[in-house]
Amino acid sequence: MTYRIEVARDIGACALTVPIQEEVWSGDVTVPPQLLLAVAHNGGFVALGYVDGDPLPAGFVFGFLGIYDYHFRHHSHMLAVRAAHRHTGLAVALKEAQRDHCLDQGIDTIAWTMDPLEARNARFNFAKLGAFARTYERDFYGPMPDKLNAGLPSDRLYVEWRIATDRADKRLRGADHVASLEDAEREEVRWLLRADGDRPGACEAIGDDSHVLVGIPADIQAIKARDVALARAWREAVRETLEPAFAAGYAAVEFLRGAGDRGAYLLVKQPLPVDPSERPGGAGAEPPRQGAGGLMGTESP
Ligand SMILES: CC(C)(COP(=O)(O)OP(=O)(O)OC[C@H]1O[C@@H](n2cnc3c(N)ncnc32)[C@H](O)[C@@H]1OP(=O)(O)O)[C@@H](O)C(=O)NCCC(=O)NCCS
Repeated sequence: MTYRIEVARDIGACALTVPIQEEVWSGDVTVPPQLLLAVAHNGGFVALGYVDGDPLPAGFVFGFLGIYDYHFRHHSHMLAVRAAHRHTGLAVALKEAQRDHCLDQGIDTIAWTMDPLEARNARFNFAKLGAFARTYERDFYGPMPDKLNAGLPSDRLYVEWRIATDRADKRLRGADHVASLEDAEREEVRWLLRADGDRPGACEAIGDDSHVLVGIPADIQAIKARDVALARAWREAVRETLEPAFAAGYAAVEFLRGAGDRGAYLLVKQPLPVDPSERPGGAGAEPPRQGAGGLMGTESP
C-alpha cells in the first residue's frame, strides 16, 4: 500500500479531519476545523494521510507549539488512522511529517498524552517511535464521553519523544532491536504488576531494582465492553503501580510484547539529579537512561 502526507493549510483540508474524528472517537467531542486552521497558521501542525485510490484522508495528526518547563516543545494533541488503514505504516509516516516540521522549527521534543491501558498505543509510542514517560496524571481530562474513553477516569501518561536523537531515527527506520517480554523474564526483571488471568494481580512494593515490569491487558476496550468493573480494576492497579514508581525515580522506556498477547512497560531507574531543584521532567533534567545491561543495549535517547 502506498500513501502520501499532505500538510493542511486551509479550512477545507482541516474540515476533512472531522469525519475521522467522528469515526475514531465518535461525534461527542470534535476539535473544530476553524481551531485547527488557527493553530496551523501559528506554528502548529495539521497533516492528512492519504492512501492511494481513496480521495478521502485515512488519518491525520494535529499538534501545536507549546512551552513546558520554560522550553519550547510541540504538543501533539491528536493522531488517528481509520480502522481499515491501521498497521500500514501511515501512522508512523504522519509522526515523521510532524517530526520534520518540528525539527525545521528547532524544536527537539514532541509530547502528548496517552491512556496507559492502551496496549496498541503503548507499542506504537514506545517501541516504534522510541518515546518515554515519567509523569502520570490522574483523570487528566475529567470524564470523557467518547467511545474510547467513556466509562473510565481519563488517567494519562505524559509521553515525551526526543526527535533529534539517534534512537528516534533508528526506531523510525525499524533499525533498532526491541527486546521481548521473554528476554526481560530471562534476565529476571521483576514484575511490579502482572496479570492474574484477565485480572490485575497484586501490586508489588518498589525495591531497589534497576528495571521492573508493569503489565497491562492486551485489549482494554474489549474488557471495558464486557466488564467495566474489571476495566476499572486495571485502571486502579496500573495507577497504584506507576505513580509510586515514577515518584521513586523510574521512567517507562519501552513497551515489551510477549507470547499470548502479553504486554508490559519496562521501567528503568533513573540517576538522581545532581541539583535537587531538578525535578524529573524539569528543564535541566537529563532524558531517561534507557540502557539496561544485556536487555536494552546502552543507547540513550
Ligand atoms: C494510534 C494509531 C494512530 C496507531 O496507528 P496504527 O496503524 O494502529 O499503528 P501501527 O500498526 O503502526 O503500530 C501499532 C503497533 O501496536 C501493535 N499492536 C496492535 N494491537 C496491539 C495490542 N493489543 N497489544 C500490543 N501491541 C499491539 C501493532 O502490531 C503495532 O506494532 P508492530 O508494528 O511492532 O507490530 C491508531 O491505532 C488509532 O487511530 N487509534 C485510535 C486513536 C488513538 O488512540 N490515537 C492516539 C492517541 S495517543
